[in-house]
Amino acid sequence: MYSVTWVLLALALCDVKVLNAESGEIEELTGLPKRCSYDYAYGYYGAYCADLGLNKIPSLKSGVEILDFSENKLREIKATCFSDYSGLRMLYLADNKIYHIEENALASLTYLQSLDLSRNVITHVPPSLFQLPALKKLHLSGNPLTHMDSSALSKPIRAPIEYLDISDCGLTEIWNWGILPQLLFYNISQNSLRSLDVSHFVEMCNLRKVDMSKSIDRIRLCDIKPSIKWLQQRRVDYLLLDDSHVRLKSREFAYCPDGTITDEFNATHTLCLSSYRVPVADVQASRSTWARLCGGLAGFLIGFMLLLYLFHRYNVAKIKRMTEKKKVPPPIQGDKQSSELLLNEVSSA
Ligand SMILES: *[C@@H]1O[C@H](CO)[C@@H](O)[C@H](O)[C@H]1NC(C)=O
Ligand SMILES: *[C@@H]1O[C@H](CO)[C@@H](O)[C@H](O)[C@H]1NC(C)=O
Repeated sequence: MYSVTWVLLALALCDVKVLNAESGEIEELTGLPKRCSYDYAYGYYGAYCADLGLNKIPSLKSGVEILDFSENKLREIKATCFSDYSGLRMLYLADNKIYHIEENALASLTYLQSLDLSRNVITHVPPSLFQLPALKKLHLSGNPLTHMDSSALSKPIRAPIEYLDISDCGLTEIWNWGILPQLLFYNISQNSLRSLDVSHFVEMCNLRKVDMSKSIDRIRLCDIKPSIKWLQQRRVDYLLLDDSHVRLKSREFAYCPDGTITDEFNATHTLCLSSYRVPVADVQASRSTWARLCGGLAGFLIGFMLLLYLFHRYNVAKIKRMTEKKKVPPPIQGDKQSSELLLNEVSSA
């Protein structure tokens, strides 16, 4: 029984491989060099269009959940760009030439979990981005984000952001995000910050790691002390891959006041902790994984039962044939005839 199951499984897998190979060949045969390829990754259906020299999003197969459009020449994200692909979960747009994102261009992507906009020329991120209900990872590294107005953010922001990368964005001040209860990893490196108040970190009550390399060396030593102290007390891992850590070991730094933890900080911290929630996307993802698994299993069982039925019919037919063979009457008649013939011959002879 088990071996049959394995054979069937292997057959099913082979089928998938063959299908993939065929669709790839068809694309090659059509001779269009700028075609996206399609495949599954992380259990999601993905379109892979990286480095094809494209300046707009081509028409994609429906139901795509991942789009890799890195290293192309996209300049603008218009409201219509992704309106047909509201099932997207991962969107990679790094290394394009994007300078403008229309205000609601990404607002329909309610399943979007990961967005990579690294190394474009974006100066302003639409606030609606921070309201996406499933967004966990946001990469904005390497954009000149100088025109961002953080007062436009409606707070608390709704996106359950766990990973936020705003490194190398030419920032001198970091925006006030409001509480970010889900945030685990924060990259603010390579910005020449003029200040970094402790209040900023108070709003990130689950933070595990912050990269501040090459970002705080222009801040006066004693001004950075409360933040460092806060991070140390909460055992947040802070990275300083430059000379800053030497400054933080100095005697001068040791004599700086620690800063006081006010009631307000405690209240914010408590509010942040109470706002932590299990990310919706996880629940949805596991649900869809179960749905897939059950669907697959049901399909497999139906196939298996069909096979059993066919096998059964084959057996029945075989048995029937065998019994029919047995039913062939003994050649008495023939014998009789031949003996009659013989008799006739004898008598005529
Ligand atoms: C933070 O961003 C910088 C610049 O983009 C990158 O080099 C660095 O590896 C990042 N830090 C971590 C810990 O990933
Ligand atoms: C803030 O909370 C800490 C510990 O969570 C406590 O030690 C401190 O006294 C509190 N500060 C104020 C001003 O309530």
